[in-house]
Amino acid sequence: MCGIIGYTGQREASEVILEALRRLEYRGYDSAGIVIMNPELTLHKRKGELAEMQRTLPQINGHVGIGHTRWATCGKPSNENAHPFLDCHGRIALVHNGIIENYMALKEKLQNEGHVFTSQTDTEVIVHLIEKHDKGDLHQAVRAAVAEIKGTYAIACIEKGSGQIIAARKENPLVLGLGIDENFVASDVTAILSYTNRVKYVMDGETVVITPEKVTIYGPDGEMVERSSQTVTWSAEDAQKGGFPHFMLKEIFEEPQAIHNSLLGALDVIENGEILPNVQFGSIKIIACGTSYHAAMVGKYALEELAKIPVTVELASEYRYSPGAKEFPLVVLISQSGETADTLAAAREAKRRGCKTLGITNVIGSTITREVDEVFYTRAGPEIGVAATKTYLTQLIALYIIAIRIGYARRNLSHDAMWNELSKLRAMPGAVQSVLDKAFDVEAAVDMLVPARDVFYIGRNINYPTMLEGALKLKEISYIHAEGFAAGELKHGPLALLDSTTPVVAVALTKDHTYDKMMANISEVAARDSPVLAIGCEDDKELPQVADLVLRVPCVDPLYSPVVVTVVLQLIAYYVALKRGCSIDKPKNLAKSVTVE
Ligand code: G6P
Repeated sequence: MCGIIGYTGQREASEVILEALRRLEYRGYDSAGIVIMNPELTLHKRKGELAEMQRTLPQINGHVGIGHTRWATCGKPSNENAHPFLDCHGRIALVHNGIIENYMALKEKLQNEGHVFTSQTDTEVIVHLIEKHDKGDLHQAVRAAVAEIKGTYAIACIEKGSGQIIAARKENPLVLGLGIDENFVASDVTAILSYTNRVKYVMDGETVVITPEKVTIYGPDGEMVERSSQTVTWSAEDAQKGGFPHFMLKEIFEEPQAIHNSLLGALDVIENGEILPNVQFGSIKIIACGTSYHAAMVGKYALEELAKIPVTVELASEYRYSPGAKEFPLVVLISQSGETADTLAAAREAKRRGCKTLGITNVIGSTITREVDEVFYTRAGPEIGVAATKTYLTQLIALYIIAIRIGYARRNLSHDAMWNELSKLRAMPGAVQSVLDKAFDVEAAVDMLVPARDVFYIGRNINYPTMLEGALKLKEISYIHAEGFAAGELKHGPLALLDSTTPVVAVALTKDHTYDKMMANISEVAARDSPVLAIGCEDDKELPQVADLVLRVPCVDPLYSPVVVTVVLQLIAYYVALKRGCSIDKPKNLAKSVTVE
């Protein structure tokens, strides 16, 4: 959610922190701030995007500092509510990601003890708690403070006159970057990749003392924890725009490569059971949030078709509070970030209910990888644009691979059939590339959507969730109200809303067994004067007769068609948002990684 960075070393801390905040801005961007120790704590923070804070930033020299980019959860975006926060005497500075649930009670107590608060945030209580417990050892003060807190946090704090940073984590990501005579702490590895790719992940309940020479991790019991470092294979370059105007467009164009990478080793997964060596379960439940939830819905069709196993799909935020029936499905949790609070809670709940769990994520070492029994990594590379694009397509690929794995292991697919499905998957990077080669057609076609107030998306079968995802992409970045519907449901209500001002995006693929039904639905819509932008196969001659405009995709097996159709939908959302002048990579009110409930 919010982005955190801390630096201690030989460089100008403000330069390192600003560079890191630029890379973290996608996590939150309603305000930003920085504190440098020199040896006083010099604070600067501003409401608005990072550029505003940077524009007004005076020269502050010093080699130790912390910075923050915020996505408001408690207290509206303002200069006062921006992080970092200082204690009453300006001796301790702190940044925080997460939510403190008992902050009201703590604040009242601290106020009665004489602490003066300057913001409406929950975070500010932490710095005052640390101040209260500080008897000359900041690490011990932080430990005492977090012991009083209920909620979730990743924090980093510094104090006047000291070169050390103290950090702590509970249910919010925190990573340590290791350099030579310098060390870093950040909420996300992309923040520090320009400086180091050697990292250590901080676990729940741990606190860390960071100096330029070393990082020392302490467990919840206060004992020192030995942990070896990991090397991150992403480069800083991977997290740059590389000549594209927006990360989102760059990430859409990286899809063929991302799919290709995610297919590496698929045969080992399927044939040798590298994932799910044991398939002794009678049903599957897939749990996720947002875009990942739509991947889960597509996965249901793929698993039921290829593995002939019953699948249910649930939103993580609903599953975690559901009563829970007496059943033991394999629970698959999908989270590109691996940090979504509801999905992590659902993983814990599934385990509590005695289910075996499999996580699908794009981030190595993310929290979900420690919560589940088995992990399937997608290999999309870093995704910076808030709207998920390439990570979604690689989630689909992961689910197809898992479906083929289970279908083969349960003997629903023969060896030949398994190879046949795998070869269809291996054709996907090429099919996606051919959609991208015609991106200009999409750019021209979206003019009919740009002025709309509402847009409907309709599809059937496996492309019903695809259209839900298409609608989500449009509303996320263009702020047009968009709804996805199973086309068969139109006549049960939504049809009442259609007229010439409400365009409809529809998908009808000739090879699909629902093609005729979709053609009928498109005709129904056209009869209400709604302009229709259709997505159809390259060879379809009938579709142009019922639709106003047709965007073509390669005629792939319908089971795998969500992969190519989604690319068109992503491009539609992108170009509509572009033509409406929206902030594409950083849509208002949204964040890339939602680490609060
Ligand atoms: C946020 C993002 C979405 C994402 C969802 C779930 O809302 O803006 O793009 O789909 O979180 O994220 P996850 O990392 O769990 O897939």
